[in-house]
Amino acid sequence: MIELTTVPELKAWVGAARAGRRRIGLVPTMGALHDGHLSLVDAARAGSDAVVMSIFVNPAQFGPNEDLGRYPRDLPRDRALAAARGVDLLFVPTVEVMYPAGAEVRVMPGTAARRWEGEFRPGHFAGVLTIVAKLFHLVEPERAWFGQKDFQQAALLRQMVRDLDFPLSIEVVPTVREPDGLALSSRNAFLSPADHQQALGLSRALGAAAAAFASGERGAMALERVMRGGLAVHPGVEVEYIAVADPRTLEPVSRADEGTVVLVAARVGSTRLIDNVILSEGL
Ligand code: PAJ
Repeated sequence: MIELTTVPELKAWVGAARAGRRRIGLVPTMGALHDGHLSLVDAARAGSDAVVMSIFVNPAQFGPNEDLGRYPRDLPRDRALAAARGVDLLFVPTVEVMYPAGAEVRVMPGTAARRWEGEFRPGHFAGVLTIVAKLFHLVEPERAWFGQKDFQQAALLRQMVRDLDFPLSIEVVPTVREPDGLALSSRNAFLSPADHQQALGLSRALGAAAAAFASGERGAMALERVMRGGLAVHPGVEVEYIAVADPRTLEPVSRADEGTVVLVAARVGSTRLIDNVILSEGL
């Protein structure tokens, strides 16, 4: 595995890969790698000739009162995991490389950013779209891989690629979970064992909503009640939002259909967690 930190080195590598007609797959991350990130690498390897992973904790997507300062960082561990999983190029730029003095322009997300994460984290998605747009220009991938775990993020990235004519496709990989159902997240490192038990409320409530849909429930309010009922037995979970929404526009629906998404965000202790499920008749 090659590791690069500067743009000129990266562009030279990308130029050589493209000259050799190697199809580049990109996996953007903020590090603190877990099996969710690594499943994106597996998918990218299967769908490309050369896999680039970026590790960059992007200040532009953190609000002033968020966890930028304490975000987990462990480059030696990440490097070993990425290399063992078959990443060809690890790109680890500094903040100065990605945001040189005077960099001001941002990519503004569409209306699907207004609600949910967009409401609770103002400016977050402009920060995400801006850094991912930069990575797309620098790495020139044919395909880029993202997790369903961050459902709204993936939907907004799809729209950015469409609206701004990026010559690549966005691929979305299912959420990887602990055996007990908790969605893997770099932020799970902050959960005490007791918090972890509480955090299971998210996946359990989503599972109950998915089961209710599969057995015929279609009312969004009824599904939301199922969610709240599931979460009520986890008093350590402080819900920020529960959404039953259209998977493309992220607007709330009153009647759920095949493919409707249920999203949840909550605080457990000092940690903010998100999860979601796509409703399906086949469960
Ligand atoms: P990060 O939270 O590090 O996640 C990197 C990628 O891994 C994202 O596409 C995310 O959806 C995916 N991912 C996280 N947990 C997952 C899980 N349990 N199963 C499957 N995939 C999972 O998302 C970001 O970083 C940033 O916003 C980024 C896109 C890198 C821009 O800074």
